[in-house]
Amino acid sequence: KTTALIAGAVGKDGYRHYMEKELHEHPLVIGQTLQRLIDPATRRVVMPDMPIDLASVPRAVITACGSAFYAGVVGRYWLEEIARLPVDIDVASEMRYRNPPLTPGSLGILISQSGETADTLAALRGLREHDVSILSILNAEHSTMARDSDIVLGTVAGPEISVASTKAFTAQLAVLACLTIATARARGTLDEAGEEELVTALLDLPSRAAEVFTRMDDIREMARVVAEARDVLYLGRGSAYPVAMEGALKLKEISYIHAEAYAAGEMKHGPISLIDRTVPIVATIPSGRLFDKTLSNLQEAKARGGRLLTFTDEGSAARLQGIAEQVIPLPQVHPFVTPIIQTIGVQILAYETALLKGTDVDQPRNLAKSVTVE
Ligand code: G6P
Repeated sequence: KTTALIAGAVGKDGYRHYMEKELHEHPLVIGQTLQRLIDPATRRVVMPDMPIDLASVPRAVITACGSAFYAGVVGRYWLEEIARLPVDIDVASEMRYRNPPLTPGSLGILISQSGETADTLAALRGLREHDVSILSILNAEHSTMARDSDIVLGTVAGPEISVASTKAFTAQLAVLACLTIATARARGTLDEAGEEELVTALLDLPSRAAEVFTRMDDIREMARVVAEARDVLYLGRGSAYPVAMEGALKLKEISYIHAEAYAAGEMKHGPISLIDRTVPIVATIPSGRLFDKTLSNLQEAKARGGRLLTFTDEGSAARLQGIAEQVIPLPQVHPFVTPIIQTIGVQILAYETALLKGTDVDQPRNLAKSVTVE
C-alpha cells in the first residue's frame, strides 16, 4: 500500500484504522522532517536562525506530556552524551509546580504534537518567567505554544488523527537528533567527520524504517503472546529505555493491558519479583555498547521463568537465539538512531495486540487526542 501525505488528507487510504495508516507514514514523515534540517549535499545540519547561542547555553530543561515526554527522554540521552549539555527533564504536570532553580540563559525544550496541551503550555509559561529561552518542537506550527516560543522547530508529520501518537513521535526524535548534532557542533564536541557520520545515519532512516514492515509476521506472532497476558514488563537500557516506556504506554492506551517499563538494570530492585510465565517481558535490545548489559538482565529474568520477547537488529539477533522465546531482527542502523527504528517496532506490536483484543484502536476509552484542561 502507498499513502499520500497531503496537508488535509485525512482519509484512511484503505487502512483499517488511522493508527495503521499513521504507522505506515513513519518513513515518509521522518524523511520530510529531516529534509527541513539537513542539507544533503554537504551532509550537515542546517538550523534556522536562532536568537540563542547553542555554544553557551549552560543547561537545557526538557518538558512534555505522554509520548512527547518519552521523545524528550531520548533527547536527554543524546544531548548529554553527544553534545555534553546538562539536561533536566520532567513531565510538564510536575515541571509546572516544581519551581526548580534555573540557571539564567538556560534553554527550555518543549515537545508537543498539538501545541495545545494545558500542562505543557503552563510549564512553558513558568520557564519564561525565569529568563529561559523557549525552543518548541511542534507538529502544529500555528498553535498556542508556537506563539509563546522563541524558536519553533516543526515536525512535518501531517495531521495525526489516531489518539495514540505514532508518527509524530518519530518526527520529534528526528528533530531532537538534528538539534543534538547542531548543539554538539556549536559546543565543539563533534567534529566534521563525526557530524557527517551521524547525518548519514539519519539520511539512511526513511528506507530502514520502511523495512521494519517486512517483519510484520514476526510482530504479529509476538502480539499473540502479549494479547494473552494481563501484565507485561518492558525493559531497555540507555536510549532504548524510553523506547520501552513508549512501548508500554502505547500498549496500555490501546489494548488496555497493564504494562510497565523499567530500566533493565533496575529490574532487580523490584519488578523481578513479578516475573513468571504469565508476565511476558518485551525487551528493546539493539546492538551497541549496552547490549551485553541488557542481555545479562534478560538472562536473570529468564532464570526466573520469564518469557523473553525481544526487539533487536540483524547484527545481534543470533546472540539472542536460544535465550529469548522470540527474536525480532529489526533493520541494522547506526547505534545513534536505533531508538527511532525500535519505536516503530513497539508501536506496531501495540497496534497488532489491540487488533487481537478488538478494542477501539483510534478512540481508546477515557483518552483524548489533545488535553487542553489541567
Ligand atoms: C494526550 C494524547 C497522547 C499525547 C499527549 C501529549 O494524552 O493521548 O498521545 O502524547 O496528550 O500531547 P501533545 O499534543 O502535547 O504531544
